[in-house]
Amino acid sequence: MLASGDTGKSTLTITDNRTGKSYEVPITHETIHATDLRQIKVNVDDFGLMTYDPAFMNTASCKSTVTYIDGDKGILRYRGYPIEQLAERCTYLEVAYLLIYGELPNKTQLTEWAAHITTHTFVHENIKKLMDGFHHDAHPMGMFVSTVAALSTFYPSAKHIADHKERELTFYRLIGKAPTLAAFAYRHSTGMPFVHPDNDLSYVGNFLNMMFRIAEPKYQPHPILEKALDVLFILHADHEQNCSTSAMRSVGSSHVDPYSAAAAASAALYGPLHGGANEAVLHMLDEIGSLDKVPGFIRDVKEGKGRLMGFGHRVYKNFDPRASIIKRLADQVFEVTGRNPKLDLALELERIALQDDYFIKRKLYPNVDFYSGLIYQAMKFPDQMFPVLFAIGRMSGWLAQWSEMVSDTEQKIARPRQIYLGYGKRDVPMLSQRQ
Ligand code: CMC
Repeated sequence: MLASGDTGKSTLTITDNRTGKSYEVPITHETIHATDLRQIKVNVDDFGLMTYDPAFMNTASCKSTVTYIDGDKGILRYRGYPIEQLAERCTYLEVAYLLIYGELPNKTQLTEWAAHITTHTFVHENIKKLMDGFHHDAHPMGMFVSTVAALSTFYPSAKHIADHKERELTFYRLIGKAPTLAAFAYRHSTGMPFVHPDNDLSYVGNFLNMMFRIAEPKYQPHPILEKALDVLFILHADHEQNCSTSAMRSVGSSHVDPYSAAAAASAALYGPLHGGANEAVLHMLDEIGSLDKVPGFIRDVKEGKGRLMGFGHRVYKNFDPRASIIKRLADQVFEVTGRNPKLDLALELERIALQDDYFIKRKLYPNVDFYSGLIYQAMKFPDQMFPVLFAIGRMSGWLAQWSEMVSDTEQKIARPRQIYLGYGKRDVPMLSQRQ
């Protein structure tokens, strides 16, 4: 195989040693088209050559202009803007607009956008009944996934995915209602009455109000905590083709309505290797319990008895830029809430892991989830709400990626191939003949 460098040719020549035939396939964007390999056959009747890539380790499934990541350099940009600048200069709603429409909003656009989102924060009374039907100890993420799916039954016209007005409405509704569903799931699990949205408050301020308001006539969020959560939503808003976004795109590629696709994305996020990792980090810290147990825990991880949760990333192999921002944010939050006592454990785990050969060799560093859970816990969010918080932030990214996918004329229904290794044809024995 030869890829041309100085020759000026952007092609790849492949020689099939089974037949001695050579094929030249174009290289575009440092990529070859997998279907170009189908011409490579031994016999005319053959299916043609495929690539085998479990977990999409080296396969691009789309062209995208939303998010750029350079995992080796620790770079994350939304629509070209560095995550550090967005976290410092923008609100979550500005970033959500940026992700979906491609540019930051000007003042007028932002006012209109915020008004649209705000007027869609309320949910139908029947959603509350649905919530009430869950068991008292139902995981809030399970409730979130289910109620996002249920929204599709309230807005059946959202299935007209080519209709731009419908798409806009879906953006407003899903971004507006995600915090309401999240807060209602929490209130249900604590047996507290639901708190209606307060549209005088900011997006995040209103979410905190729906979560934590008890008897005060007007809930006033602490400005530092409000800002911190806003930044956390920004950091979680998109991350190109991660597991849940791939689920959003893959399920959406069947042209199902976007609520159903967002429910599938939320379900993917629920897993402990993805959005459930921040909850798992806290459980891990609880399990370790004290500083003297840290070396033993690290030893166990190295022996394959579990993972150091909040460490490692498929893409980042140097540092996760979100983790650096979160570490700084933690200091500001702890000044208000008091220091989370588990911080010392986390710092010690990080210190030991970062100088251990096992972690260095495998390029395992703290990811976004390592410290975010500590902040959430200090802000009085129960562990089970952590993945739900991730989902609120990620909703705008899912929608941006979904919108890009449905407008992309190169996309079709997602349908991977397989390598079949099962039986050849065999006859079904009668029940009496089976061993
Ligand atoms: N602790 C211990 N060993 C690890 C860890 C970890 N957290 N992560 C990876 N490894 C080891 C793994 O055992 C393997 O070792 P070996 O080569 O000896 O078999 C090697 O590192 C490569 O791991 P991998 O599983 O092939 O890597 P991956 O790219 O498939 O997995 C990951 C990425 C994030 C799923 C994984 O690092 C992990 O499970 N981390 C813990 C869970 C976590 O924190 N997830 C949050 C990810 S960031 C937020 C998000 O995007 O959702």
